[in-house]
Amino acid sequence: MSDFSRRQFLRSAGGVTFLALTPIGRGLFAAAADGQGAELPVFTALPYIQPGNGSRLIDKRESVVVAWQTENRDAKFTFVYGPTKTYGKTAVVTRIARVAGDVTHLNYAANLQQLSLGQKVFYKVTCNERVIVEGYFTTRQPRGTRTRFVAIGDNACQNVGNRNVCYQAYLTHPDFVINVGDSVYNQGRDSEYTKYFFMVFNSDTAAPGIGAPLLRSVPYYSVLGNHDVNYSDPLLNANWACANFDSAPDALGYFTNMYLPSNGPKSPPSPLALRGAENKIADFQKAAAGRYPSMANYSFDYGDIHFLCLDSNIYVDTTNPQLQQWIIDDLKSTDARWKFVVYHHPAFNAGDNHFSEQHFRVLSPIFEANGVDLILNGHEHIYQRSQPLRFAPGDSSKASKVNSSDRLVPGTFTVDRAFDGQKVTKPDGIIHITTGAGGQSLYDPKMNNNPKEWTHQRDNHVEYVARLISDRHSFTIFDVGEEELTLTQVDENGLDIDRIRVTKA
Ligand SMILES: [Fe+2]
Repeated sequence: MSDFSRRQFLRSAGGVTFLALTPIGRGLFAAAADGQGAELPVFTALPYIQPGNGSRLIDKRESVVVAWQTENRDAKFTFVYGPTKTYGKTAVVTRIARVAGDVTHLNYAANLQQLSLGQKVFYKVTCNERVIVEGYFTTRQPRGTRTRFVAIGDNACQNVGNRNVCYQAYLTHPDFVINVGDSVYNQGRDSEYTKYFFMVFNSDTAAPGIGAPLLRSVPYYSVLGNHDVNYSDPLLNANWACANFDSAPDALGYFTNMYLPSNGPKSPPSPLALRGAENKIADFQKAAAGRYPSMANYSFDYGDIHFLCLDSNIYVDTTNPQLQQWIIDDLKSTDARWKFVVYHHPAFNAGDNHFSEQHFRVLSPIFEANGVDLILNGHEHIYQRSQPLRFAPGDSSKASKVNSSDRLVPGTFTVDRAFDGQKVTKPDGIIHITTGAGGQSLYDPKMNNNPKEWTHQRDNHVEYVARLISDRHSFTIFDVGEEELTLTQVDENGLDIDRIRVTKA
């Protein structure tokens, strides 16, 4: 663990303290033969921490999933856990085969329920009676606890910038990670999770140019980006609009690799379409074990923050009354001091690449009326921070044109120009953060640090962008207390490139 001391490691919210498995290349891990007992299967994903289905913060009803994956070979796992290294409890380990054409993985999950909040939990995994992993994690913190999380977007493509961002994020000791979409390039397939995601974000080594064991340390939340569903729809003749299991039997790895809160609509009004042979779709549904499609939208709390995580892909109709009501109900039902909304396609962005994908603008009045403080996006491979703003949509007819490349929503901006995040820290309006510079090739080089370029003619050149950095990969750290938060944008070399303070009073 280069560049990361033992003392720093033990201060972290979680990690692995013993691992009997070593890399054998191509993202695979195996145990050396010990001369006794049955051989172990090859691991295609080492144990990683997922939040599980918990949404509200309820002490003694907290969930965490520890998941791992192997090749298709029988093995017997046991999972023990507890508040000390004497463990004391045994968790049921589920095994679900991800059959994807010619390739089958076995997805294992120890689903721990009824944990206390803010608790350190130690665990041990044995395979065929041999200890393979020992580690620990920390459950969600209750209200009144200061929270640090990192937001990363458009990341796992295995380039050096992505590896550096992962390493720098690990060094900040976050309580958890939230990805703002396009977690895995290029099509969100299982094979790409192996090649680009686990290899970097659950790397054995923490080092620049390599990655870090972030996934085995803290929970990783995610939302659906376009690259998580990256297929053209043969029926509707639309791009980015469906999963096609004929061309990609291992599609939609989001729903089979992630274990996220399950309080989303069981039948979203405009769901992602599944195309291909019925048996292949059935194989996917079986591997997703009820998590498709409800995991496309969900919410959860951490400390004093409520997070609403939404699918913003082009098949989503943001004018749908049922979807809007679910969003309203969710935002009204929380007593959290802060409300953050997370989705991939930014409603307000100055760049041209995805400018027309504005369907989420119609939700602005709902977000404003229900106390949303901050919105987190990706999709544009830049860092962009807006001034606090309010937006009154005008003609919203294009917002309902699902799968169209023109979802423009004109309207009226009210921009808080007094807020500077230094001396004036109480915003009047919602701050929009696009943190899509997590690894994939960067956009808009001419806009970097150049405010003259930060307006758009189709928005009548309204000046709402406060900061835009597009010459380097970066991610966002949030330090959130009850009455104030600090946002720090950090580049791939660990340099702070933007910082604001936001206060409630
Ligand atoms: Fe994207």
